[in-house]
Order: sequence, then structure tokens, then C-alpha cells
Amino acid sequence: MSQSFNTKTVHFKSEQHRPNNSKVTPIYQTSAFSFKDLDDVEAFYNGEKDYLYSRVGNPNPDELAHVVSNLENAPAGVSAASGLAAILVGVLSVCQAGDHILASTDIYGGTYELFETELTSFGIELSFVDFKDLNAVEQAVRPNTKLVYTESITNPLLYVEDLTAIVAFSNKHSLKTMVDNTFATPYLITPYDQGVNLVVHSATKYLGGHSDVTAGVLVGDKDLIQRARSKAIHLGPTLAPMEAWLTVRGVKTLALRMEKQVSNAEKLARTLLENPDVKTVYYPKNASPNGNGAIVSIDLNDTIDVKTFFQSLGFVKIIPTLAGVETTVSYPKTTSHRALSEEVRQSLGITTGLVRISVGIEDIKDIIQAFEQALTNSRK
Ligand SMILES: Cc1ncc(COP(=O)(O)O)c(C=O)c1O
Repeated sequence: MSQSFNTKTVHFKSEQHRPNNSKVTPIYQTSAFSFKDLDDVEAFYNGEKDYLYSRVGNPNPDELAHVVSNLENAPAGVSAASGLAAILVGVLSVCQAGDHILASTDIYGGTYELFETELTSFGIELSFVDFKDLNAVEQAVRPNTKLVYTESITNPLLYVEDLTAIVAFSNKHSLKTMVDNTFATPYLITPYDQGVNLVVHSATKYLGGHSDVTAGVLVGDKDLIQRARSKAIHLGPTLAPMEAWLTVRGVKTLALRMEKQVSNAEKLARTLLENPDVKTVYYPKNASPNGNGAIVSIDLNDTIDVKTFFQSLGFVKIIPTLAGVETTVSYPKTTSHRALSEEVRQSLGITTGLVRISVGIEDIKDIIQAFEQALTNSRK
């Protein structure tokens, strides 16, 4: 029987990892597993036993990968030490030296840096293209192109990618597609259902949900996940048991948190749209039947002193992450997108007035009041 999303966040089959019928999977806080004799060791290599050494495999990161693949409707998954580690092993499951990646320009700055600085040093070629113009993307295809990379809702300008069109274009050229679904989460968008091969998460964000863990998850086609798992084992960024356990606990309230945060974000976006001190409100439209996400970006008018604005937000703190239960703000220009040249930032719309708001679960009246007060206090 197929289960609905909310049910899948709390019911998942992990009984084999629950000794003594414990309700919750314990934390397997161990670096290795013991064997009664050498035949028992052989049993691991013959595939009859699951665990040998925690970098190679451990029940907690495996449980997290299982839970997220289930929510994304993907057949396989692997956990990693961070979102960037999951992106790296995902890309390396498709590309090697001499291959070419087509990536969207409008992506998280850390991913941009990983691609531009590290992947090129591995001999992987790159083109950053504006994915709003799929003709331009098509023109950038080379004979050695292997992978198309983007985000389902982009960071920080919240553009909702047309995944159906991207998959159609990728299939036409026999390319694999990989999508970062961190901002949307499977509560809003399930890219694998649309034909995407690999879906990646910074589980540090909504999946964990409480800003107390750094983790990544990659789900997708079985053969690619198998290769990504080998890359993680060889390169080392596998996920620690405690971090995986915390993330699984977080996922159990994903639907509840998203419902509240999305509803708060919609109300805040609507209010800020009316405010004369806000030049532009970036908030997705028609992202999914469950709403448009819980991130709102705003471009402040010249009437506002940006530094004073950030100092006047009361309980809303400047924190260069997103997706926790508390409303927070970040300044993409000097944090997430610092690594980009000023020219690239300008062309993307990452301006001096751009503020990224991660909307939390507080009472919406308090959130709105914090922003209205900060705008009033920081008027030049
Ligand atoms: C959309 C997106 N993808 C990936 C990452 C990287 O994740 P992590 O910090 O867990 O490595 C981030 C971090 O902010 C992000 O916003």
C-alpha cells in the first residue's frame, strides 16, 4: 500500500537495526564491528553481513539514506558528511577527468566554488549557463558533456526550475541530471519523479531542521548511488552515526515544520511586497501544490541603510545558514556568494540590498513586526 508523505516521515522499515524492539533505532556509536572468526569476516565480503567498519557502512547513515530515498521516491541513497560532500560524490559518480558539466549560474555559492576550484583541478570541464534560457543551455552542450546540474528552487533568488524541460533536454542528449533539492525538500518537489537521475540535499537544512547537524544525502538511480557510495568510502566524507541519528529525528517533523514555515513565509512575502522600502520580493510562484517554500529574499530600497537594518531585527539573528525553526537572515553578498566576482554577483542580482530570509515557526505577527520595525528604524 503506498503511503502519504506525512506517514512516510515517521514510519519506515528499520526493524533490523532495532535490537530489543527499541522504538527508535539506537545510535551505533562505533567505528567498527566485531567478527567471531575469519569465516565471519569473509561473510561480510560475500555480502552476507552488512557492517565491517563505519566509514564503509553503519546502520544510522544507512537509515537516513533509506528514509530520504523513500520520501523522494528514489530506489537508492547514500548519506555523506555534508551537503557539499554529497554533491561531490554525486558528480563523481557520473564524471571523470575529460568530462564536461553544464551547471546553472544561479546556484549556492559553495557549490559554485566546489565546481570552479576543485572539479576543474580534477580535469573536469565546466560551463555555467543561465538555465532560464534553455536554448542557451542546449547551445553549451559539448561532445564530452555528461551532467546537467541545477537546484529545484535556486539559492538565493528562488527561481523554480522547469525540471520537466531540463530532463527532456538531458534525455535528448543522453546526459544525466542532478538536482539540489535542499530549498524545496520532498515536501514540495520530488525531482526523481520527474526523471532526474540524482537528487541531493544539504541535510544540514530542512531535513535536519534544528541547525544542530551538518549532513548530506544523495538519492537516485541504483548504479549511480553504488558508484557514489564507493567514492565516499574512498575519499572519506561518509556521515558519522550521531549526525545521521539527529537528522533522522529531524526528518520525522519535516512535514509539520514545512507546513508552518511555508505558511509563515507566504504571509511575510505578501506583507513585504506592500512595503515601499522593499524594492523587490523574491518568492517562488507555483512551485508545488504544497506551497512555495519557506525562504523569502528581498532587495532593499536605497531608502534603507543596510547595516542598520541587519542590526534592528530583534529576535531575528544574522546567521549564515537557513531552514532552522527560528527565523534568521543572511547577507548573500558577503557570505554564501562571497566567492563570486562582483561582476557575476551583479549579473545574478546579488546586490548590496539583497537579504535572504529563512522563515521559522514563530507566530507570524512577531515575524512581521520584527521586519516592519527594522525597516522603519533603518530608513536613511
Ligand atoms: C542549496 C544548498 N546546497 C548545498 C549546500 C551545502 O551544504 P553543506 O553546508 O551541508 O555542505 C548549501 C549550504 O548552504 C545550500 O544552501
